[in-house]
Amino acid sequence: MNNISITKADVSHLNQIEAIEKTLEHRNLSYDSIKKDLENENTYYLVAIDNTTNKVVGYIGCELLVEHADITAVATDKDYLKQGIASSLLKALEQHLQEKQIESIFLEVRTSNIPAINLYTKLNYSKISTRAKYYDNLEDANIMKKDLI
Ligand SMILES: CC(C)(COP(=O)(O)OP(=O)(O)OC[C@H]1O[C@@H](n2cnc3c(N)ncnc32)[C@H](O)[C@@H]1OP(=O)(O)O)[C@@H](O)C(=O)NCCC(=O)NCCS
Repeated sequence: MNNISITKADVSHLNQIEAIEKTLEHRNLSYDSIKKDLENENTYYLVAIDNTTNKVVGYIGCELLVEHADITAVATDKDYLKQGIASSLLKALEQHLQEKQIESIFLEVRTSNIPAINLYTKLNYSKISTRAKYYDNLEDANIMKKDLI
């Protein structure tokens, strides 16, 4: 995490977020949906920036509801994996949500996505249920939750 900073995302980061999203095995967000999210006051995105190149190397997004937030995206550039970037993004998001008095965070994760499940478990998210055949390929989702208050 040397030389990486975390900052609120805006539309100036859109192309770089999409560039990472395009590399993912299971792409979740389209260009239009990222754009809509970045312009919507009920969603909140953070980006991780490599200060040496000024490049976006990771991002996290969530939807803000009344008492809780739903994480809708988190990813790290393939060249920057396993350096603590997703953990830092999650921790920074949690801090922001705590300041907004959000009580808990929910997310869905593919049951096959061991890196992500490990990441969330390490940061004290608990599996609360599963949703059968949740994804397009009929894979199940684990629903995970963390209480902030
Ligand atoms: C999941 C993902 C965001 C993790 O990003 P990252 O920046 O590499 O994560 P971190 O370096 O902060 O890792 C934190 C913890 O996650 C777990 N983890 C990360 N990568 C892992 C891997 N390849 N295998 C197993 N566990 C892994 C580990 O517990 C790790 O802690 P450790 O380094 O002490 O072992 C990244 O692999 C990714 O972008 N995946 C594709 C998109 C995706 O699946 N997003 C989640 C959608 S629900």
